[in-house]
Amino acid sequence: MAKVDVLLGLQWGDEGKGKIVDVLAPTYDVVARFQGGPNAGHTLEFDGIKHVLHQIPSGIFRQKTKNIIGNGVVLDPIVFKTEIEKLQQYNLNVKQNLFISKKATLIIPTHRLLDQAYEKAKGDHKIGSTLKGIGPSYQDKIARQGLRVGDVLSDNFKDKLDKLVALHNEILDKHALAFNWSELEAQFMEAVGFLKQFQLIDSEYVINQELKKGATILAEGAQGSLLDIDFGSYPFVTSSSTVTAGACTGLGVAPAHIGEVYGIFKAYSTRVGSGPFPTELVNEEGEQMRKHGNEFGSTTGRPRRCGWIDLPALKYSIMINGVTQLLMMKADVLSIFPVIKVCTHYQLKSGEVTEVIPYEIVNEQITPVYTELPGWQSTLTGCTKDTMPQALLNYISFLEKELAVPITLISTGPDRTQTIHRAEARK
Ligand code: GDP
Ligand code: IMO
Ligand code: MG
Repeated sequence: MAKVDVLLGLQWGDEGKGKIVDVLAPTYDVVARFQGGPNAGHTLEFDGIKHVLHQIPSGIFRQKTKNIIGNGVVLDPIVFKTEIEKLQQYNLNVKQNLFISKKATLIIPTHRLLDQAYEKAKGDHKIGSTLKGIGPSYQDKIARQGLRVGDVLSDNFKDKLDKLVALHNEILDKHALAFNWSELEAQFMEAVGFLKQFQLIDSEYVINQELKKGATILAEGAQGSLLDIDFGSYPFVTSSSTVTAGACTGLGVAPAHIGEVYGIFKAYSTRVGSGPFPTELVNEEGEQMRKHGNEFGSTTGRPRRCGWIDLPALKYSIMINGVTQLLMMKADVLSIFPVIKVCTHYQLKSGEVTEVIPYEIVNEQITPVYTELPGWQSTLTGCTKDTMPQALLNYISFLEKELAVPITLISTGPDRTQTIHRAEARK
């Protein structure tokens, strides 16, 4: 039986998952998203065009690849319709190549309103949610009152919707949030009609049948391990399991059928939204990183917080995910720095120096302990495996030694072609 390889972010999201899934997709028969929803913004660039995908798997531009939206995803039909309409100009035959799990949870318009209401109520402690309705829809899923994609096929879908909206209204009334339900409902029902034209499937059967046939499958993560509901800096996290185990529950794949785990990370760190970020640079260097790395959110356009690479955090993510290969993104962005800093340890308030992420990270004052390495200060444009500057090779070796996992791919720009394979990714 073939295995499912998993590609996921090891930091706080936006590591470049979309680009790499698109790069690897020709070597896979199936690409499947296993969690998250329209909070994700996965960017792909080729032929001079930039595409941002939110819910549709990043294998969609590869015509021979089947794309599956798995049961672990929360799907907003309105966003889905807009995404598909944007793709229409590229003649991708999405109706044939895209499959959606009937067990995926639906995001309905009141979920977005609830997201707003909950964030507002948090006052000074906002999570910095993308406000796409992610938390409230997962809440309904776990509370066993959510709607699922398969429900749109039933005759009483409208009754089910009305019941859920009535529940939401009880909460929304208390938050005094004004909205026009009939307008939202009309927009939602139109999008539901649109969704019904697609292949709504029992994706766990399809995926396991594909595996039996020997098909190659890539599970595409959204967000990052440090935003995981269990292992992230709670409560400043998203509401899903962003880790390898999430691919098992989010697709119906047994743990023994997981193969390679590609852990993707930026050569530095970024975070969008609130929450602890030990190596954050609130200074000119941080500004330079943001500017040179074009660090603005793909979904919300918000400026991303920037800082040096954080090895205790990466080691933690590698441990939780069982990462077998590391993929380093945005190496080109560090070309501007004469000295590159690597955080190897945390110094806590008590003075203790540790590699362990403290439980109290949200309230702890962490001082990063840095090692400095010389920068390469040269452009990586056109750079190949054999022409990488020595200082970059030294940076890679340093990280590989610290992280004890090989770095098999280096990305040097947003385009598909700006990718250096140091080893064949798929075994
Ligand atoms: P994702 O959510 O993990 O798919 O990542 P995003 O698409 O949100 O953010 C990554 C951003 O970096 C996008 O704008 C990409 O086009 C861009 N990008 C990806 N790889 C590279 C790289 O190696 N160098 C540079 N400069 N940009 C990159
Ligand atoms: P991709 O897949 C970066 C962040 C939000 C916020 C927190 C909770 O593109 O890497 P939510 O909308 O889930 O309630 O937000 O998580 N966040 C992301 N940050 N990349 C993402 O996705 C993110 N999805 C959510 O900014 O801090
Ligand atoms: Mg993103």
